[in-house]
Amino acid sequence: MKVPLQFRHNGRDVALFVGAGTNLLTALRDQVGDMTPKFGCGQGGCGACSVLIDGELHLACLTLAVSAEGRSVETLESLKDGPRLHPLQQAFMDRFAAQCGYCTPGMLIAAKALLDRNPNPSRTEVVEAISGNICRCTGYEAIIEAILDAAGANRARA
Ligand code: FES
Ligand code: FES
Repeated sequence: MKVPLQFRHNGRDVALFVGAGTNLLTALRDQVGDMTPKFGCGQGGCGACSVLIDGELHLACLTLAVSAEGRSVETLESLKDGPRLHPLQQAFMDRFAAQCGYCTPGMLIAAKALLDRNPNPSRTEVVEAISGNICRCTGYEAIIEAILDAAGANRARA
């Protein structure tokens, strides 16, 4: 049994039919075609599937797709601005904060959620903000520094 679902996806309206038990990660990847949220654990333990719903951080693997009805869903795709990198993406590149890159979309979304609500975070607040995101490669230090750099770049631009 499929149910109709409409929501905004990175600023664009989408309409689809989903199973009542389909999670948002599956709907985004298999039906919307947005492969940026990643499937890591499927159990809420890794943060690879992180998205913003109405500006708040959510784990798409634990979110029923139907709960996105009428809401705004943002994924890593929303950070794109033509050929220009988002300050967070630039900082991750400059700091070599991605190695295999599997955690990176979730890390960037968690970091965006933090900087949107707190443009001037402390190191402790950065660590807390990405505490739900597992990275097996970087040791986290470069990621933390990149997020602090991006916050500084945003302040300099303001
Ligand atoms: S895939 Fe959603 S938290 Fe791991
Ligand atoms: S860069 Fe490989 S898991 Fe984070």
